[in-house]
Amino acid sequence: MAKRRGSRRPFGKEMMPGLRLQGRTAWTENATPGQDVYGETLRRGGLEEWRRWDPRRSKLGAGLVRTENEEISLLPKAGSRVLYLGAGHGTTVSHLHDIVCGADNHRGGRLVAVDLAPRCLRDLNHLARSRPGLIPLLADARKHSMIAALMPYRADWLFQDVAQASQVDIFLNACERFLRTGGLGLFSLKAASERWDGEGERALFDKVATRLSESGLELVENIELAGFEEHHMLFVCRMV
Ligand SMILES: C[S@@+](CC[C@H](N)C(=O)[O-])C[C@H]1O[C@@H](n2cnc3c(N)ncnc32)[C@H](O)[C@@H]1O
Repeated sequence: MAKRRGSRRPFGKEMMPGLRLQGRTAWTENATPGQDVYGETLRRGGLEEWRRWDPRRSKLGAGLVRTENEEISLLPKAGSRVLYLGAGHGTTVSHLHDIVCGADNHRGGRLVAVDLAPRCLRDLNHLARSRPGLIPLLADARKHSMIAALMPYRADWLFQDVAQASQVDIFLNACERFLRTGGLGLFSLKAASERWDGEGERALFDKVATRLSESGLELVENIELAGFEEHHMLFVCRMV
């Protein structure tokens, strides 16, 4: 059961529609007031209810705490077209939906959430019933034809967290096929999922950074997630 605290006063700082920051803690405006998604704290602030974005449960949440840039520079704006590869049970997806779509999708966003595990799709479908604008898809991120059917336009923002071998190729191919020029692509790399040449984690992260830059993407930031998620790096790239 989520802990709920009541206050009529807004708290923290409004960074953009649907997002407040209290220190480094991010809160998103709950699109389904009264319901938590993964046991996160709910809090009243002003007229709205807010959900605490737990950086220990979400790599993007951890990225928001660790980034050296403005937090909102990592996130899609209200009304964006988002493609999320490796959506899992919807922890991070739910916060993105709060921002991009909001209650009854009054912000007009579209969030296609792809995962190849049927058990994840069950949870994503359950989430989507009360979150219009969220479109779950049972598909393999490597196979573009099914995804393309739900992406008539290129995405403004793309996130990948598939934690499987060849994750760099999957990300580069997805950006090339689905991300618009100027759009942001974020990629959570799990070191242990890569083939190991005995080179060490730091060398692997450097090698991936070079590969992303050489592919023509602008590498905006590498965010070390250790402390929240061991052996992970979050790469932030812009499509040029
Ligand atoms: C670490 S979990 C994702 C957690 C999620 N991003 C979050 O923050 O809540 C990785 C997910 O990627 C999915 N996955 C792995 N390989 C995939 C592929 N080729 N295509 C789509 N999903 C994949 C797995 O089923 C798993 O649910």
